[in-house]
Amino acid sequence: RKPVDSPLYALLAAASDYYRAALKNHPQRNAAVNYLKERGVSGIIARDFALGFAPPGWDNLSKHLGGDSLQQQALIDAGLLVENVDSQRRYDRFRDRIIFPIHDSRGRIIGFGGRVLGDDKPKYLNSPETAVFHKGQELYGLYEARKYNRQLNEIIVVEGYMDVIALAQQGLRNAVATLGTATSEEHIKRLFRVVPNILFCFDGDSAGRKAAWRALEATLSNLKDGQQARFLFVPDGEDPDSLIRSEGLEAFQARIAQQAVALTEYFFTHLSAEVNLDSLEGKAHLATLAAPLVERIPGANLRALMRQKLTHITGLSSAPSADNTTAPAANL
Ligand code: GTP
Ligand code: MN
Ligand code: MN
Ligand code: MN
Ligand code: MN
Repeated sequence: RKPVDSPLYALLAAASDYYRAALKNHPQRNAAVNYLKERGVSGIIARDFALGFAPPGWDNLSKHLGGDSLQQQALIDAGLLVENVDSQRRYDRFRDRIIFPIHDSRGRIIGFGGRVLGDDKPKYLNSPETAVFHKGQELYGLYEARKYNRQLNEIIVVEGYMDVIALAQQGLRNAVATLGTATSEEHIKRLFRVVPNILFCFDGDSAGRKAAWRALEATLSNLKDGQQARFLFVPDGEDPDSLIRSEGLEAFQARIAQQAVALTEYFFTHLSAEVNLDSLEGKAHLATLAAPLVERIPGANLRALMRQKLTHITGLSSAPSADNTTAPAANL
């Protein structure tokens, strides 16, 4: 699926070296260093995640990596250089941003995320799709988490780069983020290949709650007996970064222990909220919504238990699949 040996890898590694060096010595690095300090990021975490700084200016990286037109084209292919179609002018993609290198599972750099130092838009910029970078499959922080601990038991899935960084900063070195995309089945398959347990912890806003249900759907179809997913819903207006920084590691861990809900529990509370379980119509509707999802679970024991639970809630002796005589499923 990915070129085993693409020339882009060396280029991306060289770019990362440049960004890291710039965070250490570039004359304009102060704003970046202060920004990271203000967000509580230590030198150790900056080092472990190879954070960098793309200085202001249109051609810092292209000058540094320089070269002939072949090299320039390679920079474009790597997503580092942007070519304006009309003017044909070329300029560095990442400018005046904190740089987060994204590694694949083998530790090769495949792309970058970049955050502005202030409130400019867009807040984050990612590498485009390239021969080696496929956004919908990659998980930011997975390489770092596994490098830190080969015996991981659980991975925490969060939304943002800075959530991963903040959790690591507080000692939770097992967080990963999707790259601004919904959690996909590919993500879940990857995670279940390396840990039996996943904890989703998205932002306390409507986007975060939508992301949670999407994650549940992607997980259901990949949930084998012996594997588990849980959800921690954070208070409105918070995200894992803001929460763990304000309440500290111990309170955050206590929150996980006390408030994380099993996927199966979230499943039934979420769907039950869509219907009126006091009526037969509501129970029928719940069965219609739930049954097809339950049938997707590959774990035979969990699937059987979920059917049983559905039977218990609805009173239907065997949970039917959705049939084409019912109303279209509500938009979940
Ligand atoms: P901070 O302000 O740094 O704490 O960002 P955040 O991670 O809390 O931001 P938010 O919750 O808005 O977004 C979560 C993730 O979505 C980010 O880490 C990015 O991966 C992605 N994202 C957010 N804003 C943008 C954007 O403007 N463009 C792109 N491409 N991705 C974004
Ligand atoms: Mn958000
Ligand atoms: Mn956020
Ligand atoms: Mn945030
Ligand atoms: Mn819903």
